[in-house]
Amino acid sequence: MSSEELLRGTSGALPAAPPKKVFVKTFGCQMNVYDSERMVEALVPAGFAETTDMADADLVVLNTCHIREKAVEKVYSDLGRIRDVKAWRAAEGKTTIVTVAGCVAQAEGREIARRAPVVDLVVGPQSYHRLPDLLGEIRAGRRIVETEFPEADKFSALPPRTGPRQTAAFLTVQEGCDKFCTFCVVPYTRGAEYSRAVADIVAEAEALVARGVRELTLLGQNVNGYHGAGADGSARTLAQLLVRLSDIADLERLRYVTSHPRDMGCDLIAAHRDLPKLMPYLHLPFQSGADRILAAMNRKHTADDYRRLADRIRKARPDIALSTDIIVGFPGETDAEFAETLRLVREIGFAQAYSFKYSGRPGTPAAGMDGQIPDAVKASRLDELQSLLEVQQKSFNSGFIGQVVPVLFERAGRRDGHLVGRTPYLQLVHVEAAMAALGRILPVAIASASQNSLTGTLHAA
Ligand code: SAH
Ligand code: SF4
Ligand code: F3S
Repeated sequence: MSSEELLRGTSGALPAAPPKKVFVKTFGCQMNVYDSERMVEALVPAGFAETTDMADADLVVLNTCHIREKAVEKVYSDLGRIRDVKAWRAAEGKTTIVTVAGCVAQAEGREIARRAPVVDLVVGPQSYHRLPDLLGEIRAGRRIVETEFPEADKFSALPPRTGPRQTAAFLTVQEGCDKFCTFCVVPYTRGAEYSRAVADIVAEAEALVARGVRELTLLGQNVNGYHGAGADGSARTLAQLLVRLSDIADLERLRYVTSHPRDMGCDLIAAHRDLPKLMPYLHLPFQSGADRILAAMNRKHTADDYRRLADRIRKARPDIALSTDIIVGFPGETDAEFAETLRLVREIGFAQAYSFKYSGRPGTPAAGMDGQIPDAVKASRLDELQSLLEVQQKSFNSGFIGQVVPVLFERAGRRDGHLVGRTPYLQLVHVEAAMAALGRILPVAIASASQNSLTGTLHAA
């Protein structure tokens, strides 16, 4: 028995009939988006349907992120609001089961149970297949914290994909991380690196494609370190997996995220040259442009390694759009070292980037390092970096004005009669188009560009 029983009989009398509506709020990375879909699918056989109205929900799930302090604060402030909803639902005679899932659950399970009595169930990312069972125990009047890393692989225990039809979907192929960057909680919240077998991934991809998916983004904290078993039991690389998935006829586009510079193998770079379905977009975090900081981060690459890598990738696929993650204000970072980060950004030129102020995370080595940087300094460095990135993003997007690009239409836009799609370079495009275009790739003439999106018109072939 891996679950831990905290209290017995304090959740009050719960109804004999199963709750019917589940509301899920997702924080954090794409892996959490994928996990939320899988949680809902795991709950359907237990009699649940998803709702977008929390007030209507018999089961509220917060799928949380622990990566920065702010992300965690959001969870506790949401729990405050949920306490009110649960109270007035109780006044109407309705029961609400409150669940905290995801990386805060994994990292702070007991702490959540202590700080937030409103929470009935805390469940870590490796135990989602057990949700229906755990809810049964909650209904019997228990509070549970389930944060073990079970032996059994959750993926094979989860039910097949049944969620709503979509054009673009995420598919987790690798989970966990063995890199232990000194600032990062992921190795602790997601555990050791694990790659799913090729056959399981292909089966899930085929099921998604049969349900209308045309674009798949393969997910992993270190997705390019993928080494899942092939048919003969020996390990396959991410490039080999991409080649295999390219064979699925109605699957039009493939992407993957997030990659570590150290694991960018020759065959993966070649795949960007050789596989037409592999989109010309690569998210490749470098975190800092200063070698001393990179070493203190335990990133295992230098700024020059990154420069050389970007060159090789661009030689293989000249039009590739590069994206990255950057941290400013890591402990000990000097003005000169921050300037090295700006220099690297200027040299490489990014189509897209995510930048963050360093946030000390409990239990990580960097949190205890000397030379913690005052928030005001981090804020001003972040401003300066983001101004530069904004110029690069706008200029990348503006370069498409007047061009015709193939857009895969994913969903209805906010304006009536408009659809939203994506270019091969992951740019969002707003276009006036009929609903029949959903799920199709059509040529679009780009008319205008901003930092975050493009607009255009359908282009007669
Ligand atoms: N697995 C991915 C991303 C992990 S988290 C990778 O290896 O790149 C996403 C991003 O959050 C990281 O790339 C990093 O830029 C940022 N991040 C992680 N921990 C952080 C921290 N303690 N403070 C600020 N940013 C952080
Ligand atoms: Fe975190 Fe580093 Fe692992 Fe990425 S590679 S998940 S930043 S420890
Ligand atoms: Fe956050 Fe966990 Fe993803 S900490 S970034 S939700 S892996």
